[in-house]
Amino acid sequence: MASFGAASTAEEVTEGIDLSGRVYVLTGCNSGIGEETLRVLGLRGAEVIGLARTAAKAQAALDKHGVAGTAVACDLSDPDSVRAAVATVRGLGRRLSGIIANAGIMALPEPRTTLGLDLQFLTNHIGHFILVTGLVDLLTDDGRVVMVSSGAHFMAPEVGIEFDNLSGQRGYHPWRTYGQSKLANLLTAKVLAGRLGDGQTANAIHPGVIQTNLGRHLDDYEGVLDSVGRDNLKTVGQGAATQVFVAVHPDAAALTGLYFQDCKVKEPSAAAQDEALAERLWAVSEELVAGL
Ligand SMILES: NC(=O)c1ccc[n+]([C@@H]2O[C@H](COP(=O)([O-])OP(=O)(O)OC[C@H]3O[C@@H](n4cnc5c(N)ncnc54)[C@H](OP(=O)(O)O)[C@@H]3O)[C@@H](O)[C@H]2O)c1
Repeated sequence: MASFGAASTAEEVTEGIDLSGRVYVLTGCNSGIGEETLRVLGLRGAEVIGLARTAAKAQAALDKHGVAGTAVACDLSDPDSVRAAVATVRGLGRRLSGIIANAGIMALPEPRTTLGLDLQFLTNHIGHFILVTGLVDLLTDDGRVVMVSSGAHFMAPEVGIEFDNLSGQRGYHPWRTYGQSKLANLLTAKVLAGRLGDGQTANAIHPGVIQTNLGRHLDDYEGVLDSVGRDNLKTVGQGAATQVFVAVHPDAAALTGLYFQDCKVKEPSAAAQDEALAERLWAVSEELVAGL
């Protein structure tokens, strides 16, 4: 496997890779590491179906970086919006080389319940669950799904997923609840990996810690970044590298059901390796989505 690491950038991990003719769906394409992912996929010749809360935001990102593709509105906290995005993408009639589930919100200070679910769980997990399950059959034979999780999945509740508290109303902690939603991303990749065809892959990643708009809900984002250690922070280019590596690099083509950090396979939490938990989450998510 190529010897990339924490300092590698998305540009470096795609050096010499020609993505022309390839089409990627990318959520959160207008900000942070998603915007950098959009830019670098485009730089290597890919077409990007860029999803953002509004089509205008997605179009602005495509235009800013001169990336060929299609802008699609997709508010991940609104199941109808996600379903409409699925229909729009399907209507394009394209096969997908990859789906990169990158968008997310982090550590809301107070519990916010929407449609009976904690807003982080709804946005980070359920929205992406509807999107990915709605598009997965469009993957090419070598198509890849990348779930952008987080090292914060280690902060998920002791039980992994609190199925009796998915609203957040029976106990809420900003990081624990964020961690739960990111664990859900990991578990989703795990189940998907078992359901995809030979040659297709599904993986989850931790991008590192990068100063982006993700800290918008934190009172003391600077303090959080200080506690991580300024020397340990990644640039946006470095932060986008792992998801881009897993989405396009030949060395990742045969790797599936895994968790990556710094462009390398990394062991996730015990809960993230719990197959029964993963299957239960999938079944519960299907049930929830059917009622939303
Ligand atoms: N930055 C880090 O240190 C770090 C560490 C670990 C994991 N991650 C993960 O990396 C991913 C990207 O984060 P980032 O750092 O690039 O943050 P960011 O700059 O805040 O970007 C997040 C993206 O998600 C979008 N988004 C949020 N809520 C949405 C919704 N309801 N519907 C559709 N899109 C929505 C945002 O859109 P708007 O601009 O419209 O809000 C934005 O495009 C996230 O999944 C995050 O959990 C980041």
